[in-house]
Amino acid sequence: MSTAGSQAYGEQWYWDNRYSNEPNPFDWYQKYHTLAPIINLYVPRSLNILVVGSGNSAFSEGMVDDGYTDVVNIDISSVVIEAMQNKYRDCPHMKYIKMDVRDMSPFESGSFGAIIDKGTLDSILCGNNSRQHATKMLEEAWRVLGDKGVYILVTYGDPLYRLPLLRDSCSWTIKLHVIDKLASEDEPDNPVWELTKPVPLNDDGSSVDEALGQNPDVHYIYICTKEIK
Ligand SMILES: C[S@@+](CC[C@H](N)C(=O)[O-])C[C@H]1O[C@@H](n2cnc3c(N)ncnc32)[C@H](O)[C@@H]1O
Repeated sequence: MSTAGSQAYGEQWYWDNRYSNEPNPFDWYQKYHTLAPIINLYVPRSLNILVVGSGNSAFSEGMVDDGYTDVVNIDISSVVIEAMQNKYRDCPHMKYIKMDVRDMSPFESGSFGAIIDKGTLDSILCGNNSRQHATKMLEEAWRVLGDKGVYILVTYGDPLYRLPLLRDSCSWTIKLHVIDKLASEDEPDNPVWELTKPVPLNDDGSSVDEALGQNPDVHYIYICTKEIK
């Protein structure tokens, strides 16, 4: 996702149009099988999971195939939600609900053990009043998670930009992982950094540059835990 010409990524009409014109399954950034080791590390299969801004990605199907049994998906686009409800109407382990992640009032506080966000905070950050909308989203994520729940953010956003946003919104305990942008099952064994090993993270994120070098070709995976102190 680039920022040029992408201001509409925070708007429902943009996504409704896009999903009407491009109905085929598409995964932003990474597919389930490349991220499975990190999901398995932080998300026990017994948890109930919320995927925010699920789009028409096959990620949730991948989770169910991998043994997760309670995956609720929300998206702001009614077009994609209707298509996915139809596609998975016989799968009892997945639900699709049209909902704005900035207002998840139909969900009670503490309802989920984990939230997965692949590209949705990034979309909201492209729109107008982006900081305000992103903060609302993160506060809602915090609210619907139970104690020790994890919000897993998969993003192109490096720590210089994402850490202040995450830290200012709620008092998450944050770990960082990275995955090569072109990671695949057949990837040679020389990633920029081992996927399941957290990258050292100091207050301003400068330790990440020291570990990975400047502008590494990676997606960042922030593991944000809600620990009620
Ligand atoms: C970049 S796509 C990512 C889709 C999917 N997560 C993936 O990884 O392929 C962003 C998704 O967020 C959804 N979205 C944007 N703003 C939203 C909001 N405020 N509430 C819920 N979903 C939203 C869009 O409709 C779109 O499906």
